[in-house]
Amino acid sequence: MTLAPATETTESGRTGTVRHFLMCRPEFFTVSYSINPWMHPEKETDTARALRQWESLRQAYESLGHTVSLIDPIEGLPDMVFAANGALVVDGRVYGARFAHPQRAAEGPAYLRWFAERGYETLEASFTNEGEGDYLTLDEMILAGTGFRTDVAAHMEAQEFLGRPVVTLRLVDPRFYHLDTALFPLDGHNVAYYPEAFSEGSRKVLRRLFPDAVIATSADAEVLGLNAVSDGRNVVVNAEATGLILELKRRGFEVVPVDLGELRKSGGGPKCCTLEIRPSREIR
Ligand code: ARG
Repeated sequence: MTLAPATETTESGRTGTVRHFLMCRPEFFTVSYSINPWMHPEKETDTARALRQWESLRQAYESLGHTVSLIDPIEGLPDMVFAANGALVVDGRVYGARFAHPQRAAEGPAYLRWFAERGYETLEASFTNEGEGDYLTLDEMILAGTGFRTDVAAHMEAQEFLGRPVVTLRLVDPRFYHLDTALFPLDGHNVAYYPEAFSEGSRKVLRRLFPDAVIATSADAEVLGLNAVSDGRNVVVNAEATGLILELKRRGFEVVPVDLGELRKSGGGPKCCTLEIRPSREIR
């Protein structure tokens, strides 16, 4: 597979932007507890396979011209590989995560410390929220999930701290417990999503905001196809999401398929492993 950098314009005229990601090597990955319907601690996991799959994801990002920074994994925190949950970073400001489940509680301070040590402005959250798992950032708004993990009060807290409008969306299917399992931004203005993961009212909100969205089927959602990362040109997505991949290509995106089957045993895909560090920018 030949990968072209985000900034190169495709034949259909799509240009992306170079990103900075934070990732965490799954050295201690396993499934030792169950906090979502994907997790079955009685079944075996293969840490070496998780590491190989994660490594190819990291390499894909670097081949696309993105920068990947690393945070050290901590023994006893098997889900720390899911960096997306560690924080929400917008305009160089870091809104800290506060996990819903005690098994993951120590991850929030670990990620916040990583940013504080590097001079970022950080805020320790007063309300439960699982970082980019439930906050997806577009140019003019942040879409925020609630229903399973993140408290709506944290939506307001993030809006106040980041100064970007936050739109609340209610998740209703426990298999899609984080917003990033049901929706992903295609670029700064449009999204792909699986409608059935959302309440009736939230579906209407999504239809109103994104009349031109890519609509995913249950088959695509069930392989965590919506847990994808787009730079506006290239979309890194689970290879099994074949319907979604066809539609993305039809819309002129370059598709970069990856296999993260091992991490899916914990309910995670490419986006879960990826925390975007958005640099500060002037308010226009
Ligand atoms: N086992 C983890 C949990 O249930 C998976 C987190 C996946 N991360 C994500 N951004 N959806 O919390």
